[in-house]
Amino acid sequence: MSLPTAGLPADRVLEQLRTLRSADLPTHGGRTLAYVYDSALTGLDELAAGAHALASSANGLDPTAFPSLLKMENDIVAAAAALLGGDESTVGSVTSGGTESCMLAVHAARAAHPSLARPRIVVASTAHAAFHKAAHYFDVEVATIPVTESFTADASAMADAIDDRTVLVVVSAPSYAHGVLDPVPDVAAAAAARGVRCHVDACIGGWVLPYFRALGADVPAFDLSVPGVTSLSVDLHKYAYCPKGTSVLLHADASLRRSQFFASAAWPGYTMLNSTLQSTRSGGPLAAAWAVLNHIGDDGYRALASQVLSATRAIRTGIAEIEGLRIQGNPQSTLLSVAAATDDFDVFTVADEMTERGWYLQPQFGFESSAPNLHLTVTAANHGAEDVLLADLSAAVAAARQAGPVTVTPEVRSTIANLNPTDLTPEAFGALIAMAGLTKVEAPKRMAEINVMLGAASPALRERLLVEFLSVLYTPTR
Ligand SMILES: Cc1ncc(COP(=O)(O)O)c(C=O)c1O
Repeated sequence: MSLPTAGLPADRVLEQLRTLRSADLPTHGGRTLAYVYDSALTGLDELAAGAHALASSANGLDPTAFPSLLKMENDIVAAAAALLGGDESTVGSVTSGGTESCMLAVHAARAAHPSLARPRIVVASTAHAAFHKAAHYFDVEVATIPVTESFTADASAMADAIDDRTVLVVVSAPSYAHGVLDPVPDVAAAAAARGVRCHVDACIGGWVLPYFRALGADVPAFDLSVPGVTSLSVDLHKYAYCPKGTSVLLHADASLRRSQFFASAAWPGYTMLNSTLQSTRSGGPLAAAWAVLNHIGDDGYRALASQVLSATRAIRTGIAEIEGLRIQGNPQSTLLSVAAATDDFDVFTVADEMTERGWYLQPQFGFESSAPNLHLTVTAANHGAEDVLLADLSAAVAAARQAGPVTVTPEVRSTIANLNPTDLTPEAFGALIAMAGLTKVEAPKRMAEINVMLGAASPALRERLLVEFLSVLYTPTR
């Protein structure tokens, strides 16, 4: 694309944008069970858009120049701390999302030990990939500790893994893949006994679990009130139903947060003073989040939590009744991991069949003891329409059964499993992704075969293949 010589009228530009957006997965209505969070509240999008427009030109780079942003950030951090077991010592920052919050927790822990040549973090194998990204960016070693049969962190194995180079131990509440809560008190106590920080990744569960508990659900202790927990992340763009672009990283006190901050006076311009990874920071997402939080309020979040709790329970019970499906682990939040209980079909075919019926369920590859499965992020928008989802899921399983398992010959399977990514040239990768049909911007409608083949690849090979795929996707429009 080149820029139009004469600019287009605003309504035409918006028309084009609407046309582009029509090809996307629906973000409202509960049919997309990953990536998006729908409260189903009328007027919320408009409120958020209005608040965003009011503040998007303001720059969080200098909070003294834009005190409105400072005030909104301090308000949001106080609300998050109050919800998540904080006290008068708790401090925090609003970041751009869960990954930034997790990365900053790792950075703060690492930067607090400048003399350590090779700092290390200890994570459960179900920890979000954001921690591997942090380790990659900040040159930190990761000790990944396999989880128990129920997909929860193995507290004693994690305790044993803490050594003199360990700067942070990470647990999830809940984990993304299975929706289960790690034993936070045990891991945090072990970390504290060694003088090591403990981060609770409550990015996805943090804004909903306290309300589940208030509604009488059994929610084990996981927040800042647990002795030994030094930081906690909670995303506002998940179950606080705010627009994309906001998360909160809480620290138990200001001394723990200090190493997160960055200042540089080593140049002739303004002294750069940053609390997060960004420097110029739009006030838009912050203001939108502040508006949404104040509009929904405590009672509103309780009502939304009640809806999503009831929807998750109904869907879980319904899935258990579909012959051939099983739920992995004992999910205590809003996320379900659905695997095949029999070997006469592939769950990835079920995902395709659900796509045909207007749903998006997210394929998750087999990993350690976790079987290939489908991930469901349930939101308030699923409340009241659980039966529609379950009926389609039941039909999708029947269709997948009729199609039979995806056939990848043992030879192809073993060739894929034995490919060593470090031996392959970029051309060989190009040929492989072309073979898999992944050369177009539009992914093929039916993904089961590709997913089964990707699932047979080692994680390292899969990473390399998908990076090549990304490189194809991000080709400038010409
Ligand atoms: C537990 C957990 N941590 C971190 C993240 C990363 O959040 P984001 O996608 O906002 O960067 C997610 C996202 O789903 C998550 O579920």
